[in-house]
Amino acid sequence: MYTERVMDHFQNPRNVGELQNPSGVGTVGNAKCGDIMQMFIKVNDAEVIEDVSFKTFGCGAAIATSSMATEMIKGKTIEEALELTNAAVVEALEGLPPQKIHCSVLAEEAVKAAIEDYRKKKNII
Ligand code: FES
Repeated sequence: MYTERVMDHFQNPRNVGELQNPSGVGTVGNAKCGDIMQMFIKVNDAEVIEDVSFKTFGCGAAIATSSMATEMIKGKTIEEALELTNAAVVEALEGLPPQKIHCSVLAEEAVKAAIEDYRKKKNII
């Protein structure tokens, strides 16, 4: 029921762990299932996301979507990263079962929360 790409990112998740001295950290959770996702970003002076990592305490789909999301925003500007949608992450994973789409929402929210935290720290919102 999962695509090969989902299984790959679930079994070999990219960018796992906690960044040292991150520019922003976003923590989001799904109240229904209790899963939690944390995203760490390091942003340079040109507002480019130089490094990103995640920790997800959750289901396989949440782990695969957070892994894919980190790959999709690495090297992007924060403006570009803000445009990342959960639908784009699902598409990059070549699909998720319908009952697992909500898990991908966490990935979009975690990216946005990390950027919001970065902006708050820099006083730009
Ligand atoms: Fe909770 Fe997937 S079941 S995020």
